[in-house]
Amino acid sequence: MRCRAEPYRIKMVEPLPRTTEEERHACIVTAGYNTFLLPSNAVTIDLLTDSGTNAMSAQQWAGMMVGDEAYAGAVSFTHLEEAVRDVYGYRHIVPTHQGRGAEHILAKLLIKNGDVIPGNMYFTTTRLHQELAGGTFCDVIIPAAHVPTSTHPFKGDVDIAALRALIAECGPQRIPYLSIAATVNMAGGQPISLRNLREVRAVAQDHRIRVILDIARIAENAFFIQQREPGCAGKTVRAIVRELCDLSDGAAMSAKKDPCCNIGGFLALNDPLLYEEACRLVVIYEGLHTYGGMAGRYMEAVAIGIRESVDDDHIRARVEQVAYLGDQLRTTGIPLVLPVGGHGVYIDAKRFLPHIPHDAFPAQTLAAAVYVDSGIRTMERGIVSAGRNPATGDHYYPKLELVRIAIPRRVYTNAHMDAVAESVARVFAQREDLHGLQMIVEPKYLRFFQARFKPLSFTLPLSSETQTRATGHSSRTR
Ligand code: F0G
Repeated sequence: MRCRAEPYRIKMVEPLPRTTEEERHACIVTAGYNTFLLPSNAVTIDLLTDSGTNAMSAQQWAGMMVGDEAYAGAVSFTHLEEAVRDVYGYRHIVPTHQGRGAEHILAKLLIKNGDVIPGNMYFTTTRLHQELAGGTFCDVIIPAAHVPTSTHPFKGDVDIAALRALIAECGPQRIPYLSIAATVNMAGGQPISLRNLREVRAVAQDHRIRVILDIARIAENAFFIQQREPGCAGKTVRAIVRELCDLSDGAAMSAKKDPCCNIGGFLALNDPLLYEEACRLVVIYEGLHTYGGMAGRYMEAVAIGIRESVDDDHIRARVEQVAYLGDQLRTTGIPLVLPVGGHGVYIDAKRFLPHIPHDAFPAQTLAAAVYVDSGIRTMERGIVSAGRNPATGDHYYPKLELVRIAIPRRVYTNAHMDAVAESVARVFAQREDLHGLQMIVEPKYLRFFQARFKPLSFTLPLSSETQTRATGHSSRTR
């Protein structure tokens, strides 16, 4: 695939940290084989996440300088409110420090003990807030979403029959809202179609159930709709984003994704009474309802970022860079989640490391190995991320065991993507040397952030020279 030129030029750059293989090996041991625990000055290309790591535009930086830092009634809040109304069409917003702040308020607002929240695959923080509020998340995504090799164009779609069956089984009064993500992160950044969301909306309306969207990456979702959905080729990304939002009652937003900000988020609601209640809650957990958890300058930057995020050329360049990396990896035979998603390329660790059992954490092992090979940081999105079922205490054992290579927006060039593909290919050639990990520190909530591991045996592919030097102080001797 030929990648069209980016619709921007670069005027500020940062040097990339450089490390030796030996230093990286020492770093991953110290980090307990968890890429979240690496210091960023030991990371050369940081593809841990596309969240808060994006390059802001000149306009956004200008907005940072004129942000209104008034405690109450800041003009920057008004700008944010206007941007949300213009682009997404929601009537009211409650600003929060980031997406999970909005998820927390939403869960506290709507979920009662014993409630069930259907959704198109779980997301880590989203599900945890639902559970902490007394609810149970129930996955109603189409089965193809769990199959990495399926090339279904809308793997974020809801299985409408499964949704109807769930509503019939537990009764609509136990379902406070449908939790619908666009795109679906844990499925590989996969989109939901407009057609499917319309069907979801119709089912919800039949039973007077609210639809709440996760709009962190809705512009990417809209781009896929423009490219793939019959009848949508002539629509702008901005128009499709609006159509999606119009099919919902509200949204949780992490402004660290599409709007390219380093921090920020909000809860958007159309119902004025719910908004009033959300205002009562936000002052407890985030801050006054005209800043939530955000400084005025960030509200200004988010407002500008929202408008910029729905520009067709911007979003095309972004998604095509992700596709470019996908193509490079596929040509070297790396098993991926297909089609390649909107914000990252997801390696299928089960097929990459078929000899490592699921509870020896194949994806965690692979992310650590790629780091040691090249200083490229990726993230596990599999059994560690999924955590444990609070009712049974067992691992959730998700069908997808993935390593996510997330690409920050406007930060790296395609030459960096080539370096990533080369590193993954090198690890693939030595995959037999990887033997899996054992978890030695397991936090109770969102364990993937801070869990620590040790190798089941010597696991990381190192050059023989480094192995000789490393064995004296490597994890094997711990
Ligand atoms: N929803 C989705 C779909 C997300 O991907 C995230 C964060 C959140 C909600 C929570 O937002 O981080 O601002 O509190 N995803 C990041 C990631 C952490 O790396 O995928 P937050």
